[in-house]
Order: sequence, then C-alpha cells, then structure tokens
Amino acid sequence: MQPLNEKTVLKNPFKQFEFWFEEAKQVLERDNPDSACLSTVNANGEPDGRIVLIKEYDERGFVFYTNIESVKGMSLLATKKASLTLHWDELHRQIRIRGNVELVTDKEADAYFNSRPRGSQLGAWASRQSSTLESREVMEQEFEQVSKKYEGKEIPRPTFWSGFRVEPQQIEFWQQGDDRMHDRLLFTKDEVLGWKIDRLYP
Ligand SMILES: Cc1cc2nc3c(=O)[nH]c(=O)nc-3n(C[C@H](O)[C@H](O)[C@H](O)COP(=O)(O)O)c2cc1C
Repeated sequence: MQPLNEKTVLKNPFKQFEFWFEEAKQVLERDNPDSACLSTVNANGEPDGRIVLIKEYDERGFVFYTNIESVKGMSLLATKKASLTLHWDELHRQIRIRGNVELVTDKEADAYFNSRPRGSQLGAWASRQSSTLESREVMEQEFEQVSKKYEGKEIPRPTFWSGFRVEPQQIEFWQQGDDRMHDRLLFTKDEVLGWKIDRLYP
C-alpha cells in the first residue's frame, strides 16, 4: 500500500479523498465502505454521533441524505457544523472531515431521491425519523398507507427529506504505521492561501 507522507499525498485534499475512497470501494469486500460517523452538537452543545452514507462529493463538500426533522437534522440546522469520520480497518486508514453544513438544493435532493428504489422512497415517507414510535405495527401501517396512496404514481420527495453538504474547513488523513508511529496529515483551508498541510504527532 502506498505510504502517506508529504511526497505521496495529493496536494488537493479532495483528490486525496477520492484516491482513498475509490480504493476502499474497490478493495473492500463488505457493505458500506462509504459509511461515516456523522458527529453533531445540538443547540445546547450536547454531542451525538451516528452512521450515514456519503452519497456524493466534489470540491464543494461531502453529501449525505436524511430526514431534516430528525435529531441530526435539527442539530445541523441549529449549529451549521458537523464532522464526518471514515474508518477502513482493513486498509488501516481513517479520514476526518470537519466543516460548515448547508442543505443541498431542491434540485440535487430531487435527483437523488428519484434515483432511489421505490421501497426506500416509501420508507422515507413512512418514517418520522428520531420520533418515538408506539410499535413496529404502527410504522408498517403507515408504510401500507403511503404505498396505497402512491400506487401507480410517481413518489414525490417529502419536504422533510433532503441532503446536507459538509463543506470542509479541515480534512485529516491517518494511516497506520508500525510501533504506533502512525502518519497524520492535516489539511486546513485558508481562504487566501488555499490548503495548508501540517503533520501531526499520532
Ligand atoms: C450503515 C448505516 C448507514 C446509515 N445511513 C444513513 C443515512 O445515509 N442517512 C440517515 O438518515 N440515516 C442513516 N443510518 C441511520 C443512522 O445511523 C441513524 O440511526 C438515523 O439517521 C437517526 O439518527 P438521529 O436520530 O441522530 O437523527 C445509517 C445507519 C447505518 C448503520
């Protein structure tokens, strides 16, 4: 595997992300190599974390889709800040992304929603994500109701379901080394100078 150091690292962190992310998707024989822990704080400063799937990325940032009225949605709308942590144990690599958060455009959210399987579209309608649910049966009844409602029809994207883009201020690449002498390269965005790269003690 390629070492991570000042010579090998791509000077554009999005290109370096792409290099590792695409390698993980090709090499790993397991589900969800695109999963990441999304960390948030709510309006009271209380932290939380959960897994989401990174569905799109480009130089604007990293996008995942969710219910915007969920616990994470409310925290993101309140603070506009988040981090994403990816870990590929098999490759001995970790990436940490920290930045500001914005909702994607309706056009982007519609395009992704329309690409999803019909069952997932119905599931989005049937879930009031993070709210208390009386029983599984209630959720199944709600799924049935929306299935009937949209039978033979195109399913529109719920207004409460969209994507968030994490626009990174920092991206850190970590690769395991022997004797715990790991390599950590931290990219920090400078609005004038572009991306600065620092090596951190592991
Ligand atoms: C592998 C995996 C992938 C997941 N992907 C997503 C996702 O892309 N979007 C999402 O809303 N929840 C996803 N979840 C569920 C979340 O981890 C979480 O349970 C849910 O979003 C509710 O979080 P909240 O109550 O903090 O808002 C995923 C869970 C797992 C285990």
